[in-house]
Amino acid sequence: MRRRQKRLLRVGLLLSAALLLLLLGSVSLERRLDAEEPEGGAGLAQMQKVNRKQVLKDGVRKKDWHDYAAIRSDAARTGAGEQGRPYPLTDAERVDQAYRENGFNIFVSDRIALNRSLPDIRHPNCKLKLYTADLPNTSVIIPFHNEGWSSLLRTVHSVLDRSPPSLIAEIILVDDFSDKGHLKAPLEQYMVRLPKVRILRTQKREGLIRTRLLGAAAARGQVITFLDSHCEANVNWLPPLLDRIAQNTNSSVLDSFNQRT
Ligand SMILES: *[C@@H]1O[C@H](CO)[C@@H](O)[C@H](O)[C@H]1NC(C)=O
Ligand SMILES: *[C@@H]1O[C@H](CO)[C@@H](O)[C@H](O)[C@H]1NC(C)=O
Ligand SMILES: *[C@@H]1O[C@H](CO)[C@@H](O)[C@H](O)[C@H]1NC(C)=O
Repeated sequence: MRRRQKRLLRVGLLLSAALLLLLLGSVSLERRLDAEEPEGGAGLAQMQKVNRKQVLKDGVRKKDWHDYAAIRSDAARTGAGEQGRPYPLTDAERVDQAYRENGFNIFVSDRIALNRSLPDIRHPNCKLKLYTADLPNTSVIIPFHNEGWSSLLRTVHSVLDRSPPSLIAEIILVDDFSDKGHLKAPLEQYMVRLPKVRILRTQKREGLIRTRLLGAAAARGQVITFLDSHCEANVNWLPPLLDRIAQNTNSSVLDSFNQRT
């Protein structure tokens, strides 16, 4: 009887020692992952916790590329057009000329912050995805012809604000022989403050494809990304695109936005 109790006790001790080791192991694993991950906010803590657990799952080292501080500061913004909300026009503001020039209302665009916030319209699962930690950098090439001032600048700001800086080698704006004054000296003066932005110009009207190729020929990044001149990059847009290329350098990635054009 005594002996059996003793044996039971020993097995019990062994079991609890094993359990303790297991717990300690997982705590130190969490700690190690903690050290690698950025600081998170209260609302996003759950999301980040899930993300951290996936870090070591793959043969390739993956990481959470989200910029949680930027996501939080975007979420707190209010004002005209913030969170992608419609801009209500007063009767006095209804200027139909604005539509004719750009195909969208440049009058409204001019009244919305160049770095406005957008709703995160991704599928909820995308918010939990990790991508290759070691991604190539990219040259973002943006061809334009007589683009509106605010729409072009909003494209550039959204790319710079919503991309990990290490992944943006440069942004190349390629002007396909625009004749609008704001796209000449004022554009060059504005871009002086954004050292990653270069402006190239064609010598005559070339059309979209040759304009893109001119940008591609001048690109210094490891990957070339083409964007329209009136689009806005949303949360974590770039890592999933570069991830496909990191996995197979033969790939060419089309995002659904560009597939439509
Ligand atoms: C957005 O742009 C405004 C005006 O340039 C600037 O004051 C503000 O700090 C920017 N906000 C963010 C979050 O970048
Ligand atoms: C892009 O990445 C390559 C390889 O790591 C590096 O040599 C180059 O300096 C990077 N370019 C920029 C502009 O960061
Ligand atoms: C890329 O394409 C080349 C040429 O077709 C091929 O030899 C190579 O195996 C491909 N690489 C990958 C990673 O698929």
